[in-house]
Amino acid sequence: MGGCFSKTKPVEVKVELSLLEKEKEVDGLSPNGKASPFADCRPNGALGHGSDEDSTALPLYHKPRDYVEVSVCHVKDLENGQMREVDLGSGKALLIKEHGEFAAMGHKCPHYGAPLVKGVLSKGHVRCPWHGACFNIATGDIEDFPGLDSLPTFQHRIDLRFYLISKCLQALQLQKRSKPMARCSAVINSNTGFSHVLIIGSGPAGLVCAETLRQEGFTDRIVMCTMDRHPPYDRPKLSKSLESTAEQLRLRSMSFLQDHDIELLTEKEAVAIDVKTRSVTFEDGLRMEYRKLFIATGSKPKAITYKGKDVRNVFHLRTPEDANSIAQLANNKNAVIIGTSFVGMEVVAALTDKAHSVSVIGMETVPFKKALGEKLGKSIMKVETHIYTHTHIHLKEVALKSGKVLRADVCVICAGSVPATGFVKQSGIHMDSRGFITVNKMMQTNAEGVFAGGDVVIFPFPPRNNKKVNIPHWQMAHVHGRVAALSMMGRAAEIKTVPYFWSAMFGKTIRYAGYGEGFDDVIIQGDLDELRFVAFYTRSEEVVAVASMNYDPIVSRVAEVLGSGKTIKKRDVETGDISWLIDKGS
Ligand SMILES: Cc1cc2nc3c(=O)[nH]c(=O)nc-3n(C[C@H](O)[C@H](O)[C@H](O)COP(=O)(O)OP(=O)(O)OC[C@H]3O[C@@H](n4cnc5c(N)ncnc54)[C@H](O)[C@@H]3O)c2cc1C
Ligand code: FES
Repeated sequence: MGGCFSKTKPVEVKVELSLLEKEKEVDGLSPNGKASPFADCRPNGALGHGSDEDSTALPLYHKPRDYVEVSVCHVKDLENGQMREVDLGSGKALLIKEHGEFAAMGHKCPHYGAPLVKGVLSKGHVRCPWHGACFNIATGDIEDFPGLDSLPTFQHRIDLRFYLISKCLQALQLQKRSKPMARCSAVINSNTGFSHVLIIGSGPAGLVCAETLRQEGFTDRIVMCTMDRHPPYDRPKLSKSLESTAEQLRLRSMSFLQDHDIELLTEKEAVAIDVKTRSVTFEDGLRMEYRKLFIATGSKPKAITYKGKDVRNVFHLRTPEDANSIAQLANNKNAVIIGTSFVGMEVVAALTDKAHSVSVIGMETVPFKKALGEKLGKSIMKVETHIYTHTHIHLKEVALKSGKVLRADVCVICAGSVPATGFVKQSGIHMDSRGFITVNKMMQTNAEGVFAGGDVVIFPFPPRNNKKVNIPHWQMAHVHGRVAALSMMGRAAEIKTVPYFWSAMFGKTIRYAGYGEGFDDVIIQGDLDELRFVAFYTRSEEVVAVASMNYDPIVSRVAEVLGSGKTIKKRDVETGDISWLIDKGS
């Protein structure tokens, strides 16, 4: 992007961002008939993007009087490595200075809207303080997940007047944009049982795979199928915001998918794969052949046995309908949650101000003990746990082995999950004994043309000497989807990310980055009672993961250090003074 600052007058010069005052008089050419100087001024530095909100073509030229300039600061106000939010009247932008260069881009993370000024600036990108998404400061492109969209960038000038085109004003208000995508050029007969790429699952792994293919110029047919009734939605919000409708949780609309030639078949369950004929059979009898197949069917709830069938007030939480029904039935009634997983405890938190009573039943003496350690588990959640059984037609009560009986008007089972790979079993695609599909670093399975990603896989994880692990996080599923798409297109790609997870309950968010499996010690800084802390998980002498509450952006900072290939030693975080970490990140 433009706008390196002039070294001739380094101190007195103002940094100015210029904005269009109102949109009018848009011409295709500049007055002298030449292509407009703004012809390449794009919200993202890229042409022809589209998103749900933003699908109009770019105007090429605006007359100067349509613009206003806003002087946002003096050059000397911003040091190298600093970021500043600047208000331009019609919206805000993030001004960044790194290595003597200025850049300006959207100030809000397109994922959940975190203020990026509070994130981590390092080596040409900004990492979001909330869940670790990364954005390139020159292009605004998303470089690490979660989230689907990128940021607009804004041209600026130092010293001389400079104008942004109207699209940029719009971008200033939208604060996000999707990357440009190719269209399908293959002749499609939607009744044809063949797709160049067939994706089973429309969660983040499936959706990012489809969008990456189009972003990378794939012009053949893409069909994505799902058991869900809805277009892709934000599953993590189900347990945090039980009353949200599918529309409110929507990630992409049907029209967005259609606009980018991604065909979505809803309520379409795959029941078998034949790798010899390269075909998938669906429950309704449809058989579809593929050239490349991506299996991204995610997790399904672990079954627990109870008496009675069709018990209408017992739920697993997988869909917006489940969440809405739980919220409705629990209103002023007695709710019982079985399982002290993150999802279970989020449901507890979401119901406490709705239900008459909420009881939690679990096997662990301390919630989250395995993932976060005993001290953190105890401080986050002081909940007594028990063991469960029993039900009948309309569940009325849950009896614990201890003899205690809990009244239950609604029961939510959050007792863990298993990979949704039952339909893969007979196919010859390699799975481990727990049903996880094994893939290589390019997300390829053992079967020709078959890829898999997201919650369903175990994949080689470089920080653990390529040991095959399963990391069922929303963010990781995005990464897998992208790597699989690039691999399908024959592009060298491998998983290069730091796992990032979050959970929100009782108005607090816990953030977690790294891979703490098998940690042998936890170093805690801060105050557990005040719920303002950072916990470093160590294995031998190295920090392998970090968790925090009210301590932003420490988790993103650690992710940045680990992502750059550096290690953090246990002794470095034991001292109590972790200010050095700030320097390591940049
Ligand atoms: C309630 C809840 C809250 C969560 N909260 C968080 C959180 O806060 N942070 C976090 O990091 N992670 C969270 N997770 C985990 C996160 O949602 C998963 O890691 C992520 O969704 C995995 O993505 P995926 O693409 O692999 O599969 P999924 O998102 O599970 O999508 C699977 C897709 O496959 C489809 N499908 C399944 N079987 C078939 C079949 N046979 N035929 C056709 N389609 C099929 C489904 O309909 C769906 O479209 C949460 C999960 C749940 C359930
Ligand atoms: S808000 Fe930025 S990654 Fe979630």
